[in-house]
Amino acid sequence: MTFKALFKEQEKTLESEFFEFLRYPSISADAVFRPELRACAEWVEKFLKNSGFTVEMWNKDEVPVIFAENCTAGPDSPTILIYNHYDVQPVDPIDLWESKPFEPTRKGNQIVARGAQDNKGQCFYVLSALRALYKKHGKFPLNIKLLIEGEEESGSKSLPAIIEEKKKALKADYLLVVDVGMPDASSPAITLGTRGLTSFTVEVTSSHSDLHSGVHGGIVYNPLHALVEILASLRDVNGRITVPGFYDDVKTPTAKELEHISLAFNEQDFAKEIGCLPTGGEKGLTPLERNWLRPTLELNGISGGYGGPGTKTVIPAKAIAKISCRLVPDQDPHTISERVKRFIESKQSPGYNVVCQIHEGMGKPVRTSPHSEVVKALTEACEKVYNKKTAYIYEGASIPIISELAAACQAEVCFFGLGLASDKIHAPNENFGWDRIENGFMIICDALTTLGAKK
Ligand code: BES
Ligand code: MN
Repeated sequence: MTFKALFKEQEKTLESEFFEFLRYPSISADAVFRPELRACAEWVEKFLKNSGFTVEMWNKDEVPVIFAENCTAGPDSPTILIYNHYDVQPVDPIDLWESKPFEPTRKGNQIVARGAQDNKGQCFYVLSALRALYKKHGKFPLNIKLLIEGEEESGSKSLPAIIEEKKKALKADYLLVVDVGMPDASSPAITLGTRGLTSFTVEVTSSHSDLHSGVHGGIVYNPLHALVEILASLRDVNGRITVPGFYDDVKTPTAKELEHISLAFNEQDFAKEIGCLPTGGEKGLTPLERNWLRPTLELNGISGGYGGPGTKTVIPAKAIAKISCRLVPDQDPHTISERVKRFIESKQSPGYNVVCQIHEGMGKPVRTSPHSEVVKALTEACEKVYNKKTAYIYEGASIPIISELAAACQAEVCFFGLGLASDKIHAPNENFGWDRIENGFMIICDALTTLGAKK
């Protein structure tokens, strides 16, 4: 029986199970959702127990980390560790959703729900492929371990300590991270690297409380002005980041590294889909260079003072900015964080106070080999399903825990996924195509079978 037939046979059941998975509001950012997050983890646990795995729930009383394993293929077979996450982003702005985020709805091929792609959709085709392989053969073609966490969208705060403690259990030959995308709907891809991440909150404070902007205007230093001046000083007119030492450790990619990567990018197509031209970042570089190969410093939010209707003549006592940096090899998140913090806090002045707080959950950039067995197996599997050459790409986004996880399990890493820029991940009306559940199912079945044959 082909993998396609195997999928078709259970298609209706799979769809209703996928909907069950999507109904849990497993938002990790807000502790209010902890019970639902745990219930979601238990749903996955049950699914895996029914698919030939022994399952352990680590960190059960906080945010469960699901660890599953079936190593009955034995010591002569390779071991693969597959990473996914079952937590999702918050839903706001809720008013812009056309259907309720945790009441999945199908519109033709598209399934709309928070997490439909990131990462429940991609996790679901892995889960269903594994169960199908197990039900068909009563065993797996290689040793399989799974790590499905519930805190990726909040920076995987509990995982570093757990990874350290469970190093032995996590040991594997291959680490397959199924949480990335492809360039377009007909072009399968392997991602050979992700950017690192670090983030900050900057607070500028001055007077004891808000002040009348006439009575005190021209006397006190308005913290909002101080903040925007500081923020403006972080980049020059060419979009280069001015923090001293920011680029010191940026390694220029070798020609050999670049050879594998397809840097084709259509600016007009992008503008049509996204709604604006790709003019951000450093001047003089192509969009994909800026997105994949260069670090960024980005403002994520500014708040302070009055933003309501009409006028309010106020000098606020406090102004806040949220900032994040995407990092590339060999920038170290700790070093960069300290440099950014030092630069921002050096803008302190007698009239106001500046504090830059570095957030938890930072992660290093990752680069993987295009020549590993796991990449080869995925490449072949993709080509069979899509009937097209597999593209090799990098990713501008981050999965911050992967560099630590890869070091702990000592495996060859491969990032794979079927996400599209149009899936609206992290945004209202997130969606995923059912065809990609099917394709992902077939690719995972095929790649694992190929890897298992390599003793
Ligand atoms: N799955 C995404 C990363 C991603 C997005 C890869 C698009 C490929 C294409 C992941 O869940 C994510 O959103 N990462 C966050 C990390 C943050 C919330 C700590 C990111 O990159 O901002
Ligand atoms: Mn995400």
